[in-house]
Amino acid sequence: MGNVASSMSMSLDGFVTGPHDSRERPLGEGGEVLHDWLGPAGTPADQAVLQEMVDGAGAIVMGRRSYDFCVGEGGWGEGGPAGDVPCFVLTHHAPDPAGVPPVFTFVTDGIKSAIAQAQAAAGDRTVGLHGATAAQQALEAGLLDEIQVHLVPVLLGGGVRLFDLLGAGPVELTRDRVIDAGSGVTHLRYHVNR
Ligand SMILES: NC(=O)c1ccc[n+]([C@@H]2O[C@H](COP(=O)([O-])OP(=O)(O)OC[C@H]3O[C@@H](n4cnc5c(N)ncnc54)[C@H](OP(=O)(O)O)[C@@H]3O)[C@@H](O)[C@H]2O)c1
Repeated sequence: MGNVASSMSMSLDGFVTGPHDSRERPLGEGGEVLHDWLGPAGTPADQAVLQEMVDGAGAIVMGRRSYDFCVGEGGWGEGGPAGDVPCFVLTHHAPDPAGVPPVFTFVTDGIKSAIAQAQAAAGDRTVGLHGATAAQQALEAGLLDEIQVHLVPVLLGGGVRLFDLLGAGPVELTRDRVIDAGSGVTHLRYHVNR
């Protein structure tokens, strides 16, 4: 079975969006800078990190806010965040299937079920977690293998925190890679010890 890995761009003060994220501004006020490294501003080292994620992705688990803010026109277009890679969306209420791109499956029975379904779809490839709540729940359930933080040199002062609601007790990590991309972004990778 492949790794379960969270991979998120984060500000130095710990936010994965700026304040007031919405369908109009999925990364919140001032948060667009978090994803600059994915575009033309990215260096060859940034592009290599992105390519590694694209090549390794077998399935994605995300929360309903990430889906609502980015699905369709103006966001991911006809597919999901990684084209036709299957995506499992945590929600309490699945939407009307009309108009939902076929890569998305809605999961109403929790993180363990979402990750199990994603692993079945991914085979030996990576299950990537998008959004903050999926990573937090996977960590608490003991299902997260790896945390990648793409640390962006900005202080956003508000927004969605990557590590807001953790369970009891410290979570020990082993840092196994640091890439200074030369763009100001530092790509950090940690193994979750358990
Ligand atoms: N910086 C980055 O690299 C990056 C990457 C991806 C996304 N983002 C941003 O992150 C933000 C979203 O992250 P988020 O953490 O705020 O929200 P999220 O994880 O995308 O969505 C949270 C929602 O998912 C549903 N949900 C989560 N766990 C559930 C469970 N166990 N059972 C049932 N439903 C569950 C609930 O919605 P319902 O109750 O409505 O069903 C919950 O309110 C967006 O603004 C997105 O643009 C940033």
